[in-house]
Amino acid sequence: MDQNSLKKAVGLAAVEFIQPDTIVGIGTGSTINYFINSLSSIKFKIKGVVSSSEQSTNKLRNFGIKIINLNELKFLPLYIDSADEIDPQMCMIKGGGAALTSEKIIASVAEKFICIVDVSKKVNILGKFPVPIEVIGIARGFVTRELEKIGGIVKYRRGIITDHGNIILDIYNLSISNPILLEQHINSIPGVVTVGIFASRKADILLVSDHNGINTIIK
Ligand code: A5P
Repeated sequence: MDQNSLKKAVGLAAVEFIQPDTIVGIGTGSTINYFINSLSSIKFKIKGVVSSSEQSTNKLRNFGIKIINLNELKFLPLYIDSADEIDPQMCMIKGGGAALTSEKIIASVAEKFICIVDVSKKVNILGKFPVPIEVIGIARGFVTRELEKIGGIVKYRRGIITDHGNIILDIYNLSISNPILLEQHINSIPGVVTVGIFASRKADILLVSDHNGINTIIK
């Protein structure tokens, strides 16, 4: 099976975790696009979804799936999203698709976070994939210098403006032995909107597709 087939398989498997008459938070990216395709087959069984990006919203609308504003909800039972990397503690790097801020907000509201990945995303230590950071434009130089102080090699993702009107920096060469501390440190730099380390809010359930099928790992 190629990687797209594995993404499709795990997207299909995630639908089994959705209860009837519920609202589901939806992530962003190619794996989630497969999940949305599968979700469309049960769209009349759910109340609606909360979307993490314009990209996912457009796809959901094309399927006629009802979009609900997060601010209308006091409780969201479930968020389903993929990741760029996930470690054995269920900490993740996310934001390869530049939707990390809404993803982190919805994940934080949700009672349960199910992460769906193909096996290539599983790592022992986070950091081979560069850490995306959403930054206010005027702070680009300052944030870059602050990240260089901790050994980061910073690349500006040219031509990308997020759904919230900000820029993305990708940080290479970070040593991520303690994801929670690094998340807190980068979050504290003025001008940083969101760091794509998801360690304070980890996944609760991980579905991994490989050539043998789907593995379910519960925290
Ligand atoms: C989007 O901003 C990301 O957090 C995605 O969840 C992540 O990049 C995984 O994307 P793919 O499913 O496209 O690999």
